[in-house]
Amino acid sequence: MRSLVILLVVLAVAFACPSQTGFKIHQKRSIQHQGREDKPLNWLEKGLVYQIYPRSFQDSDGDGVGDLKGIISRLDHFVQLGINVIWISPIFKSPMADFGYDVSDFTDIDPIFGTIQDFTDLTAAAKSKGLKLILDMVPNHSSDEHEWFIKSVNRIDPYTDYYVWLDGDAPGVPPTNWLSVFGGPAWTFNEQRGQWYLHQFVAKQPDLNYRNPLVHEEFKNILRFWLDRGTDGFRVDAVPHLYEDPAFPDELPSGNPNADPDQYEYLIHDQITWNRPETYDVMAEFRQVLQEYEDGDGQHRAMMTEAYVPLENVIQFYGNESFRMADFPFNFALINGISNCLYYCNTTTTRGYPYDGTQLRDTIVEFLDAIPSWVGPQGANWVLGNHDQRRLASRYGEALVDGMIMVQMLLPGTPVTYYGEEISMKDQFISYEDTLDPQGCQMGPDRYEKFSRDPARTPMQWDDTFNAGFSTAAETWLPMGENYPTVNVKLQKENLVSHLNIYRTMVALRQEASVLYGAYDFPIVDADAFTLTRIRTNSTSYIVVLNVGLEGRRFNLSGVTGIPEKAKVVVRSVQATSGVTQIGFTINTNDFPVGAQEGLVLSFVAL
Ligand code: GLC
Ligand code: MG
Repeated sequence: MRSLVILLVVLAVAFACPSQTGFKIHQKRSIQHQGREDKPLNWLEKGLVYQIYPRSFQDSDGDGVGDLKGIISRLDHFVQLGINVIWISPIFKSPMADFGYDVSDFTDIDPIFGTIQDFTDLTAAAKSKGLKLILDMVPNHSSDEHEWFIKSVNRIDPYTDYYVWLDGDAPGVPPTNWLSVFGGPAWTFNEQRGQWYLHQFVAKQPDLNYRNPLVHEEFKNILRFWLDRGTDGFRVDAVPHLYEDPAFPDELPSGNPNADPDQYEYLIHDQITWNRPETYDVMAEFRQVLQEYEDGDGQHRAMMTEAYVPLENVIQFYGNESFRMADFPFNFALINGISNCLYYCNTTTTRGYPYDGTQLRDTIVEFLDAIPSWVGPQGANWVLGNHDQRRLASRYGEALVDGMIMVQMLLPGTPVTYYGEEISMKDQFISYEDTLDPQGCQMGPDRYEKFSRDPARTPMQWDDTFNAGFSTAAETWLPMGENYPTVNVKLQKENLVSHLNIYRTMVALRQEASVLYGAYDFPIVDADAFTLTRIRTNSTSYIVVLNVGLEGRRFNLSGVTGIPEKAKVVVRSVQATSGVTQIGFTINTNDFPVGAQEGLVLSFVAL
């Protein structure tokens, strides 16, 4: 999805980055927005989603690739951190052309990850520890090794029209100029069938034909298959790609000067191969299946949709007041809107870091204000990273990681954590020779670094022993992050001042009534400062004070509604050194220091 993101970022450049070139950002502000307390929150609204990339979490059999037994052996990690929901990237049978996002059997587990029995064991173990389990569903495409595709190639009914097949204009000329998200043509000729098939991703990921109702039925049955086995919900992959314009028009050039003619960003896809209105109908059908199960036992089933589309389209995945579709569409604003500029904006920021306090506030408020009132702020969500993006620490810079976690956890709505974020893992440099991600490989040695997603997918760093305790294999599937001897779970558990301990404290704070239900506001915001209050009468209330700037400064909160003269320091960034703001200390809120890029959480009883 990197390329899609780039497209959006490139579009966003015109709005976000030019603040450096004199463009004035529209000021937006939400004041004292109150959460609803009349309706009990479900486990996702109350919870925190942790994404496991299964190849990289824990290897149990020494083959250098993570697996289900490995995940089972690490479940206590979530219990210790207070996490209640795990989402596992695809574990289905796959030739691994896109590392599991190319599925050859949607109702079986890939042997590299284990067996159906291992999955049953994982479900039971998770349940016994109070953890909800979310699977990753990939409806847009299958592997070319899926039996549906093989039968489709051979025109065996009912599979003949399961995929998007077309004749070309002339021998060797594909039906349209469409490009794959990973680069190069989106069509491949199949000799045997004598036609071209569409693949919005690599050629080994043929696109399913959603104009064929049988495909919908197949997927609904796949959902039922996993729901019957105790799955609590789904993350739905690559949603905006489900449909194409049935007239198959060529796409127009975007005019993007940074896109080569083989790159996805070279063309404009909106409403032709991307972001079409029909996709919402499919998501509604999926929700109906989840509802069948929910009606059966009263337990909520969750659906999270992945769509890097404009905000107005993102919001439509919530459905409407009489029919809630997705629990939430992922909110990628904290990735696309600002921090990706460090990598993808071709302007160098004079500030030396990717955003300022005002931009951060505006990005957050824009999403909160877009959420329909019948959903409420608790239906928001905040993604800081995933397997398609640079890691949080590499995107925002290490010094801001704790501050961003504080902000994420105290905002209304569900935080989404990518594995390793809790210890501030960084992107690992990977040479072209070692690159495995199809998106990196497709771009070749000169361009791969910008596109490869491998750097953010290196194995979890558990301790300082061989392979960070991830695997006993001589070689792991991707190299280990070089910093694992100093950046690992074990060390950060032992060390009182660590990213992991800040993370754990913040997860606990999120359970407080003021954070789940309280009013929110952003009282002091400027280029270098960002603050967020969560205030609820008669409850312990909180404020995050984040100094985004590169120099230490002092804050005065005396004019801020609800904040008393004294407050207690509950959390501060690992780099903080001030003797005044030590954890547990009471400080004067009218004058206290916050170091460069440091975050501080203060607690108080609201006035
Ligand atoms: C989604 C996944 C990404 C994958 C693509 C194709 O965007 O997050 O990793 O490559 O879909 O399935
Ligand atoms: Mg293994």
